[in-house]
Amino acid sequence: MTTAPTSDASPDWAALAGRFTPNFVWGSATSAAQIEGAAFEDGKGESIWDRYCREPGRIKDGSNIDVACDHYHRVKEDVARMKWLGLKAYRFSMAWPRVQPTGKGAWNEAGFAFYAHVLDELQAAGIQAHLTLYHWDLPQALHDEFGGWTSREVVPLFAAYAAEVARRFGDRVASIATLNEPWCVATLGYETAQFAPGITDRGVSMQVSHHLMMAHGAAIVAMRPLTRTPLGVVLNHTPSFAAEPIEADRIAARIDDGLTLRWYMDPIFRGSYPADVIAYLGDDAPKIEAQDLALIQQPLDFLGVNFYTRSFISTRQPGMPAPGKMGFTDMGWEVYPQALTQHLLRLTRDYAPPPIYITENGMANADEVIDGRVPDVARIAYLRSHLEALATAVDLGADVRGYFYWSLLDNFEWNSGYTKRFGLFHVDYGTQQRLAKDSAHWYRGLIKAHQPHQ
Ligand code: NOJ
Repeated sequence: MTTAPTSDASPDWAALAGRFTPNFVWGSATSAAQIEGAAFEDGKGESIWDRYCREPGRIKDGSNIDVACDHYHRVKEDVARMKWLGLKAYRFSMAWPRVQPTGKGAWNEAGFAFYAHVLDELQAAGIQAHLTLYHWDLPQALHDEFGGWTSREVVPLFAAYAAEVARRFGDRVASIATLNEPWCVATLGYETAQFAPGITDRGVSMQVSHHLMMAHGAAIVAMRPLTRTPLGVVLNHTPSFAAEPIEADRIAARIDDGLTLRWYMDPIFRGSYPADVIAYLGDDAPKIEAQDLALIQQPLDFLGVNFYTRSFISTRQPGMPAPGKMGFTDMGWEVYPQALTQHLLRLTRDYAPPPIYITENGMANADEVIDGRVPDVARIAYLRSHLEALATAVDLGADVRGYFYWSLLDNFEWNSGYTKRFGLFHVDYGTQQRLAKDSAHWYRGLIKAHQPHQ
């Protein structure tokens, strides 16, 4: 794990590191369903992803998350890897059904003990814990009983879960995010069926998005009196670009921006849903009750932004590929770091947000182990170009306090199963061996250059 690669693109660490203020937080991120495994151990309840994986045809390689990276049994060694990297911070999620198997009623002490163990190890390693409450693994029981996120009944249950976590762990974590990427939950889970629970209904999906926003607000309200730790939310931002300089593409890109970005940013930071999107949705617009928007618009201490690529919107040729001058990742996503700079400045201008963290950024690469190494030069180039874009945004006025590479380990990439590798560490799923890729060595070198005395 500690052998340095013999060659990689490393030398300009000092120049890049010098662009970040001394307090800048270097991190990496994972989520429970994608790495933990132990899907039914120590009293954990079934999640909608445990169920979805078992439905034929849903997951590309027919895999499931019963074992995943077996992180549940390997916390100590995985935290040792974080320490070796020099991480200041680790972002991870709690599996709701692990700590409350049916999403209401009794708590599962063994589940909380597992997360206490994670926190103990992180604390001993001097690494901050950034916790996400919901990274997509809803207790299946809530879905079976009343349709899960399709029903308002989920809102107080999520708030009760959040409160319990804040009560137990609020003073041990460096931040708590309510939701991860609500757009993905609502759209991919309830409109396109690419994600659990696999529903295809736009109206339902928009109603789900509203319940997610309410659950976010209710969770913030419930946690505030119980903890002083910073509270926020994590949104996925994929800036929408018109493919051609024509009016039709501009209008389509504006709607795409409305559905993916403003739909979530506006209620949280402005107290209303965007009117153009409501009009566009027509009968599919969600039912909103009198106090809902006031509940959603809670003051936040930070905004988490997950940035990977941009969207390229064409009306003449739907699906037209973006130019991809810097290439495409193994997900087929265009590498377009300039959009990160522009986007951070746009957020700053349009929303005056609280401090921003890049809570995810990274690439899937067709990595291979060659002579005991993973020469992932494309990932190093991706990392470097996005960090440069981030530093430029900060120079121009964006308040970005930290960066979390997605992901620490290769892991379960949702409906792609284990076919896509995002990790700094390569995982051999047969043996569960982890191997630091060249990008891990590069990131470690950068962190060291930034904080030579730590
Ligand atoms: C966003 C999600 O939060 C994470 O779970 C996923 O693996 C990455 N993006 C890559 O697609």
